Amino acid sequence: MSLLSIAQHGEIAVVTLDNPPVNAISAAVRQALVAAVARCDADAAVRGVVLCCAGRTFLAGADVKEFGLPPVPPHLPDVVAAIEGAAKPWMAAIHGAALGGGLEIAMACRFRVAAPDARLGLPEVTLGVMPGASGTLRLPRLIGVAEAARMILTGTPVAAPWAQKAGLIDALIGGDLAEGAAAVLAERLAAPVPVPVSARPLGPCATEVLEAAEALAKRGGKAARVALETLRYATEVPYEAALIRERENFLALRASPEAAALRHVFFAERAAPRPVALKGVSPKTLGAVGVVGGGTMGAGIAAACLLAGLKVHLLERDTASLGRGRDTIGRTLRSAAARGKLPVEEAEARLAGLGAHTDAAGLAACDLVIEAVFEDIAVKRQVFADLDRACRPDTVLATNTSYLDPRRIAQGLSHPERFLGLHFFSPAHVMKLLEIIPVPQTAPATLATAFALGGRLGKVPVQSGICEGFIGNRILKRTRAEAEALLRAGVSIAEVDAAMRGFGFRMGPFETQDLGGLDIAYLQREGARAEGLEVAETLGDILVRAGRKGQKTFGGWYDYATDSRQPVTSAEVAALLAPHVAAPAPLPPALIVARMLAAMAAEGRAILDEGIAGGPAEIDLVQIHGYGFPREKGGPMYHAEAGLCPEAPVRATAS
Ligand code: NAI
Repeated sequence: MSLLSIAQHGEIAVVTLDNPPVNAISAAVRQALVAAVARCDADAAVRGVVLCCAGRTFLAGADVKEFGLPPVPPHLPDVVAAIEGAAKPWMAAIHGAALGGGLEIAMACRFRVAAPDARLGLPEVTLGVMPGASGTLRLPRLIGVAEAARMILTGTPVAAPWAQKAGLIDALIGGDLAEGAAAVLAERLAAPVPVPVSARPLGPCATEVLEAAEALAKRGGKAARVALETLRYATEVPYEAALIRERENFLALRASPEAAALRHVFFAERAAPRPVALKGVSPKTLGAVGVVGGGTMGAGIAAACLLAGLKVHLLERDTASLGRGRDTIGRTLRSAAARGKLPVEEAEARLAGLGAHTDAAGLAACDLVIEAVFEDIAVKRQVFADLDRACRPDTVLATNTSYLDPRRIAQGLSHPERFLGLHFFSPAHVMKLLEIIPVPQTAPATLATAFALGGRLGKVPVQSGICEGFIGNRILKRTRAEAEALLRAGVSIAEVDAAMRGFGFRMGPFETQDLGGLDIAYLQREGARAEGLEVAETLGDILVRAGRKGQKTFGGWYDYATDSRQPVTSAEVAALLAPHVAAPAPLPPALIVARMLAAMAAEGRAILDEGIAGGPAEIDLVQIHGYGFPREKGGPMYHAEAGLCPEAPVRATAS
C-alpha cells in the first residue's frame, strides 16, 4: 500500500495513511497530507474528508528518526494550518493512539471520532519539549484549561471514552472505523459545520486552576514549566499571538540540553530490551514463575510477576515465613488495585492463584525460578541444589544476589546453561531496572528468556558482566566513597545532600543511605573482612558500630524523631566523625556535584574498559532506573561525554 491513499465513500473522501509501524509523522507524511488537502479541495465530488490510518494506530507522534536533525518542510504547523483551512471539512478517525503531533493534527480537523479503546495524548514533555503545532492552544479550547494542563504538563494520555465526555472526541465508533466515520461525517455535514477549534473562545483562567497547574509543573521538568507559561499566555492574548509564542518556546526547548538528554534516554530505553547478540534467539515460553524467599525482594518480585499476569509459585523455608510473604504480596496487589492499576476482583483472583510451598517440589511446573533468599552463599547453594532436583532440566534458574559471584552460586548445578543472575531493585514491583548477569555457561535462550521476562514486567533490562556489585552497586560504592571523601575534606553531610538534590536527585547520598539502612553495606564489608580481604574503614562503619543504622534506628548520618522522616543535623555524628574530618571547608554546590559525577563517570569508564557493560548508554539506564539519576540529565556517562560535567576540582580531594 502506498503512503497515502484516497477512497471515495459517497461524497466523503477517506484518506488513509500507511507509514508502518506507528504512522510516525515523517517529512513524507507531512508532504502527503498537505497534498491530500489540495487534492480533496479541488475535487468537486468531495464534500468532506475522513483521515484515518492503516495498521495498529493513528498518527502516534513525530518520527524519531528525525530527532535532532534539521527539520524538513512542510513543518507540522503547516500541515495543521492546511487541514484547518481546507475548504472541505476534515474528520480525524482515531484508533490505537493519537499522540503528540498526531493529536494536534486531529484537533485541526473540524470533527474527531475514535474507536472506544483509542488513547489520546500530548506526551511531548517526556521528551523535554512541548506541543509545538497549536496543541497548547487547541486542547484548552476543547476541554478547558484545567484538564488540558493535566494532559500537557504530565504527558499522560487519556482514554477515548473520557475524551468524549471531556469534549475532545465527538463520537465513539465501534466496528469499521473508516466506514463508521464516513457515515457520521455525511450526517454532520447536513448541519452547519462548526467553527475551527482555533476560532473558539478561551477566556482568562481561574486562579485555582492555575495553582493546580503550577503544582503539576513543579513536579515535571523544565519542559513542563515552559508549557505552563505557554498555556497561561494563551489565556491572556489572541490566538495568533499565542501561536507565535508556542512555536518559539517549542523550538527553544527542542534545542535545550534537557531535550537532547531525554532523547538519548529514549533511544537507550528502546534499544535495551533487544540486545543485538540475541537477534534470532527465541526466549522460552513463560507460563509459571517460581520465587524462592518471600522477604523484601521475593515478595516484591512475586508481586511484579502477578501484576504482569504471570502465574506465581512462592517457596519459603517455613509456614510462618510463607504467611508473611503472602501477606506482603497481598498488600501490594490490593494497593495496586486501589490505585486503579487493575480491577479489585482481578487482583483477588490473581492472589487466589498464588501457589504457596515450603517444599521445592512445589516449583516443579515452573518455567523460570528466581531465588531471593538471604545473601549467604551456603543458603543459596542449598536452594539451588533443591531446585536442580525439583525442576525440569530446562527451567531457567536465576539468583537475585546483590554482591555474591553468580559463578560460585552456580557450582554444582547439573545444567548451568539455564542459570543466570536477575538483579531486581527495591521495591521490586516499582523500580524499573533489571540487571541481567549471565555466567560463562549461560545459554543464549536462557539470556533471551531473561530479557523477555524484563519486557513482560515492564522493566528496563540491562546486561552486566560479573564484578563486585555488578554495574549499579559498583558505581554506588564509588560515589559513596566520594561523598565520604568530601566529608573528610571538610564539606558537611547536609551540603553534599543539598547539592545532589539541587542537581535533580530526589534525595542526597546520605539521606538515601539512611532510608535504606547503613547496615547492609556494612555487613557486606564485614563479610569481606572476615574472608581476609583488605577493606578500608569507612565513615559509615563508624556510625553503624555506634548503633546508627539509619531511619530504622532513628539515627544514621542524620537524627530522626521517632515520628518523622525529616533528617536533622546530628551533634552525635559530628562528634563521632570529628577525628576523621577536616575543619569545615564549604564547597560550592556545583563543585560538589562535579566531584560526585566525575566519580560516577570514572567508575563507569572502568566498567566499560573491563567489558562489564555493553556501552555507556546502558550505564546511564542503570543510574536512571535504579539509582535516581535525574532523567533530564541523561545519565552520568552522557553527562560527562556531552561535556556537561566539568573536571572535578582539585582542592577538596586532598583529605
Ligand atoms: P530478606 O531477609 O528480606 O528475605 C529473605 C527471605 O528468604 C526471608 O523471607 C527468608 O525466610 C527466606 N529464606 C531464607 N532461606 C530460605 C530457604 N532456604 N528457602 C526459602 N526461603 C528462604 O532479604 P531480601 O532483602 O529480600 O534479600 C534477598 C536477596 O535479594 C539477597 O540476596 C539480597 O542481597 C538481594 N537483594 C536485596 C535488595 C534489597 O534492597 N533488600 C536489592 C536487590 C537484591
